[in-house]
Amino acid sequence: MKRLLLVLLLAVTAAVLAGCAGKPDSAGKENTGAVVVGFSQLGAESSWRIANTASMEQAARDYGYGLMMENANQKQEKQIDAIRSFIAYQVDVIVFSPIVETGWENVLKEAKQAGIPVILMDRMIETDDESLYTAYVGADFYAEGRRAGEYLKRKADETGAEKLRIAEISGTLDSTPMRDRQRGFMDVIGEDSRFEVIDSICGDFLRSKGEECMQTLLQKYGKDGIDVIYSHNDSMTLGALDILEKEGIKPAQDILIITVDGEKEAVEALKNGRINCVVQCTPNLGNSVMKLVKELKEGKPLEKIYHPDEGMFTDFDDPKDPNMEGF
Ligand code: AHR
Repeated sequence: MKRLLLVLLLAVTAAVLAGCAGKPDSAGKENTGAVVVGFSQLGAESSWRIANTASMEQAARDYGYGLMMENANQKQEKQIDAIRSFIAYQVDVIVFSPIVETGWENVLKEAKQAGIPVILMDRMIETDDESLYTAYVGADFYAEGRRAGEYLKRKADETGAEKLRIAEISGTLDSTPMRDRQRGFMDVIGEDSRFEVIDSICGDFLRSKGEECMQTLLQKYGKDGIDVIYSHNDSMTLGALDILEKEGIKPAQDILIITVDGEKEAVEALKNGRINCVVQCTPNLGNSVMKLVKELKEGKPLEKIYHPDEGMFTDFDDPKDPNMEGF
């Protein structure tokens, strides 16, 4: 019996190792290229995330790399399992987008011990040991939060507003974009007595939760009790707009709307006067990630932090500007 089990175990191991030689990409195609990237995506919660996944898949194809992608459906445990499976498969590089900042040290130590470099994509981790990751490719979320605050200051200056009550709809608690978009925003408006943040509720970056948050806020404060919605992403904002409009409230006129990401639907809403400010956050990180993978494989030294160039679109801009485009 023991012997039979051993034979079975060896057969399974051989199958796994054979899989590593011609590792499939996430579209299920066999890839004969030497480089295999293990990619743990955190979920599919927003249009941003879906575009980000597509960007990684496209870039892997462009570079001729195999991509083993696992989608964690918003569960940290699933991301940890995926990273462990990439270590077992001995991929060349692990790329992952950590759903929250804490709780990664053990699994990243395992990757380090296995000699597999890790690139953080889109979100950061909290650690004292920077050797646990080789590089970070993603937005400067703090700068995004500052941009949102700077827009609001300018709006208050130009309209002469003396008091603005702000309700924040935040992204996933303890995620980098949530923490830094909040911190950047507060660093700009926090000391200015014209602004008061009356509430901050979590919408987890989901459109459905954006609707729920907006309903809760309206029940708590009424339409006359809120002057500004600062929402950490477009999906939640678009959900909130649906609720406002159902209640006969004109977004961007009765309540100022500030959002982050820059997906097509949100940029259109800005052009149509339903949103006041869209802070850009690009999901198109795939190329930059694969470029780093290539440099790593060539033994080149890497920059530790790479931020893409980003800006914002606001109701101060000309809506006919051809650069005002969403992803
Ligand atoms: O980490 C980036 C954020 O995650 C995007 O702003 C949001 O849309 C996504 O879900």
